[in-house]
Amino acid sequence: MKAIVYTKYGPPDVLELKDVEKPAPKDNEVLIRVHATSVNFGDLLARNFKDISPGKFSMPLLFWFFAKMYFGFTKPKITILGNEFAGQIESAGKDVNLFKKGDQVFGYLGQNMGAYAEYLCMPEDGCVAIKPANMTYEEAAIVPYGAIMALNLLRKMNIQSGQKVLVNGASGGIGSAAVQIAKYFGAEVTGVCSAPRLEFVKSLGADKVIDYAKEDFTQSGETYDLIFDILGKSSFSGCKSSLKQNGRYLLASFKMKQLFQMLWTKMAGTKRVICALAIDKQEDLIFIKELIEAGKIKSFIDRRYLLEQTAEAHRYVDLGHKKGNVVITVEHNNKI
Ligand SMILES: NC(=O)c1ccc[n+]([C@@H]2O[C@H](COP(=O)([O-])OP(=O)(O)OC[C@H]3O[C@@H](n4cnc5c(N)ncnc54)[C@H](OP(=O)(O)O)[C@@H]3O)[C@@H](O)[C@H]2O)c1
Repeated sequence: MKAIVYTKYGPPDVLELKDVEKPAPKDNEVLIRVHATSVNFGDLLARNFKDISPGKFSMPLLFWFFAKMYFGFTKPKITILGNEFAGQIESAGKDVNLFKKGDQVFGYLGQNMGAYAEYLCMPEDGCVAIKPANMTYEEAAIVPYGAIMALNLLRKMNIQSGQKVLVNGASGGIGSAAVQIAKYFGAEVTGVCSAPRLEFVKSLGADKVIDYAKEDFTQSGETYDLIFDILGKSSFSGCKSSLKQNGRYLLASFKMKQLFQMLWTKMAGTKRVICALAIDKQEDLIFIKELIEAGKIKSFIDRRYLLEQTAEAHRYVDLGHKKGNVVITVEHNNKI
């Protein structure tokens, strides 16, 4: 089968189209014919991991060390990137009960990666679900990563209808899903992003948008029940006066300092720092499918590339100008 393989860390040029062996499903696995995949934060990070020093890594040192062990210190151990996908079940192992040949599915492979290929295998109880009926493969393939992370992290905050939520980093993979999911929970949502993406974040349903280059949201006098900072660009000390009495400051990216702040604020005061890791669960993806079919989550394709143009797709995402998501279409010559 065709796949995009990389055997050394580096710029997009390390991604090469190669012929590799087609995987075979184990008894509990499904074989998926991939129709679309994407380029997101995880792909860029893993492709260039040699250059990611502990300081550049958005998590504590120990996490960096474990990630290096997992992905490889000097060269990649996992050689096919791509963590989200949409496709069709081609065959299933003998113990598979949840899916059958022909089912159209979408899913998230997380750090296992492997979606930049014509086929992939994954356990039937992995993060895979029937594709939303109202989305194409391309539209569905770019949803799982951001939506799973945002749903999982926002659920930990127990958002209630009518609460005020600010998403800092609202134009990215997690942030754009967080805006839509917080709206679904009934929150009043403010999205913070750069000027070129204000309209995009508005189109996601944000009630208010703030250009961080023009306005510091911590100085506006507004207060929020939840400030969700995806990249951890703000600080708890700066945001404290923008939190309501029992407000929460949620971080998707954090260091040891923020972990200590989490412990400290749990013991003293009413405003809390929460550093949380999202867990990808099949049940969450099924819930996301239902939200999509109910029109609560939409998918925004910025650019499309073919599998053989994956390096070009990475080059575009590396520039940091995408509005929405970049999708990679996997064409199959022998259509079923
Ligand atoms: N906790 C977890 O379980 C978990 C899981 C996965 C990922 N993560 C973390 O999430 C982060 C990646 O998130 P993502 O996939 O959403 O990234 P992304 O798609 O790269 O988006 C990041 C967004 O941040 C915005 N941004 C840049 N500078 C900013 C600033 N000063 N203020 C506000 N926004 C700014 C950028 O857009 P603009 O140009 O519009 O500002 C960009 O769209 C990583 O740090 C990763 O470690 C955490």
